[in-house]
Amino acid sequence: QGGEVKEHGPTDRILTDPHDPYTRRLLSDAPSLVSAVEQSTYRPGPAPDATALLTVDTLRREFGGGDDPFVAVDDVSFTVAAGTTHAIVGESGSGKSTLARMITAFQEPTSGTVTLDDLRIDEFGTFSKAGRRDLRRRVQMVYQNPFSSLDPRQTVGKILAEPLRNLTDLSKTQIREKVEAILDRVALGSGAGSVSGDVAQRRPAELSGGQRQRVAIARALILDPELVVLDEAVSALDVTVQAQILSLLDELQRDLGLTYLFISHDLSVVREISDTVTVMSHGRQVESGLTSEIFEHPQDDFTEKLLDAIPGHRYRSGGLNLGL
Ligand SMILES: Nc1ncnc2c1ncn2[C@@H]1O[C@H](COP(=O)(O)OP(=O)(O)OP(=O)(O)O)[C@@H](O)[C@H]1O
Ligand SMILES: [Mg+2]
Repeated sequence: QGGEVKEHGPTDRILTDPHDPYTRRLLSDAPSLVSAVEQSTYRPGPAPDATALLTVDTLRREFGGGDDPFVAVDDVSFTVAAGTTHAIVGESGSGKSTLARMITAFQEPTSGTVTLDDLRIDEFGTFSKAGRRDLRRRVQMVYQNPFSSLDPRQTVGKILAEPLRNLTDLSKTQIREKVEAILDRVALGSGAGSVSGDVAQRRPAELSGGQRQRVAIARALILDPELVVLDEAVSALDVTVQAQILSLLDELQRDLGLTYLFISHDLSVVREISDTVTVMSHGRQVESGLTSEIFEHPQDDFTEKLLDAIPGHRYRSGGLNLGL
């Protein structure tokens, strides 16, 4: 930590009896070990009478025309209740990002429908200019790498003000106030103890990875969206920063009533943060339902294999080389 070796020794001793406070924090923040070893509880899932905010129905996307197109997303259907988190899990190339792009209207489906409340997102191509603006406000996306999604030449203040300038009629003063408020929300405001100086004046390269991801989340939230699609949004962060961002997302969801579509290949994170989950393999949906049910009673071999691959599972069953 900070360029110093805090602790070293056999893996088994470090994992089971860490001496240094920093090692202890790293271990307690690692979701794979926490959830597998301590068996943290599940989210309750949506209320029985909850209304669906997002409905995905027999969605399909092919690439390459002709007689034998490649099917990246193959008849996927699920609903997401307002105010809940739905996770999409699956290996690399299983079609998660393609699905996300269709839900956010960045890619057109080959067939099937995507509905937000009563708005047909899959018909985005036919929307009026006002309709497009409206949808861009209501559905936002956060990516894995904020370095490529945030303009490196602009200051954080400009990056956050841009959607407000483009999509609202707010005055300069109102925009400045909103930018300050959202930076406070994601704990990057001028009052934040751990942040030196004014973050709004800095460029993305002058921030840490966790701070950059907070800026990306602030940008996604600044237009008060209903649905936020997070595509591997915490996958590149170290476990401590990842835990901070996950609890920030949780707090924002509770305070603002947000609905999340959370895409991840990390089942230990998904177990902790999602109410419902869809498991994908080769473009197909192999299972979909309550997170607690799918993790406790996987119906599909593929899901079982994915669950076995959580690092904590192997550690618990003694299958990991502990340097003994
Ligand atoms: N524009 C495209 N043209 C052709 N094939 C594509 C296109 N976009 C995606 N694919 C293919 O569709 C499949 C699904 O890709 P996708 O990016 O949705 O996977 P993913 O589940 O997000 O993977 P990862 O976990 O690696 O991000 C892949 O085989 C990919 O090569
Ligand atoms: Mg992807």
